[in-house]
Amino acid sequence: MAKRILLQNYWHNKAVLITGASSGLGVALTKALAPYHVTFGLLARSKDKMAALADSLRHGNSRFWIRLCDVQDREEVYEAVRAFQEYAGRIDVVWVNAGVGAKTNIFKWEWQAFENCVQTNFMGAVYTAKACLDVMLQQNSGTIVSVSSTASMRGLPGSSAYCGTKVALNYVMESFATQAKDIQFTSILPGWVDTPISAEVRHRPWLMPADVAAKKMITAVAKKKSKFIFPWQMACLYYFMRSLPMPLYIKLARKFFMSRK
Ligand SMILES: NC(=O)c1ccc[n+]([C@@H]2O[C@H](COP(=O)([O-])OP(=O)(O)OC[C@H]3O[C@@H](n4cnc5c(N)ncnc54)[C@H](OP(=O)(O)O)[C@@H]3O)[C@@H](O)[C@H]2O)c1
Repeated sequence: MAKRILLQNYWHNKAVLITGASSGLGVALTKALAPYHVTFGLLARSKDKMAALADSLRHGNSRFWIRLCDVQDREEVYEAVRAFQEYAGRIDVVWVNAGVGAKTNIFKWEWQAFENCVQTNFMGAVYTAKACLDVMLQQNSGTIVSVSSTASMRGLPGSSAYCGTKVALNYVMESFATQAKDIQFTSILPGWVDTPISAEVRHRPWLMPADVAAKKMITAVAKKKSKFIFPWQMACLYYFMRSLPMPLYIKLARKFFMSRK
């Protein structure tokens, strides 16, 4: 009951922009927020999938604005943010969510995978956050939610690009937060969630369905948490791994995670 009131108070009537709204967590977040009379701005490169999502939710009282946007393109992102602000009148919350995985094994190196990951997960995320931050600073209010990852705990073997982009994103958001005092910043670090990005990974401990993850995420934002790591088992692992000195971490990583595949 208390949680329902918290969610209602926080999310009711908000103008919410979501990147990566065509799949996985973006879809689950949209569904989780749809009951709250939200004005949605949905961004991704797959318009059909976003249109189908909006159609499936139109019976409710939320409104949907959809736009094709490649977050790697700074001008496209700024134009999409400007157009959504014009449509909704303001931007209350942005979910900086679009992301890609990348296999960056040093024995099978592909610059294209590395660069695509950096351009999407890091530069794309920063373009989105900064474009919305400019709007929110004018409004003197707003919330920037960055969807990072527990992969930012350490440099995991074969995941240099993904880990690097997520840890860099954490610090950019933290730095923004030190200057933008009227803006809420929430960094979310999910563990494994059952979505297409990780579908090919064989071992996904403490895997969570996307709808369950989305409910946890919207609650953490409503509670105004600055950092939210889930599930709790992953949070314990995250803090344990971060506490290890580098030589010990490297020994453990070689023993438990290392692969030449
Ligand atoms: N699932 C997990 O286990 C997990 C764990 C930790 C963190 N995360 C993070 O959660 C976020 C959402 O991922 P997900 O699990 O929902 O994966 P997903 O199902 O693969 O969705 C990724 C989304 O990102 C969008 N996207 C990718 N490249 C884009 C680009 N250049 N421009 C615009 N949109 C782009 C995709 O849309 P289009 O292809 O239509 O453009 C899609 O909507 C990511 O940042 C991911 O790193 C996921």
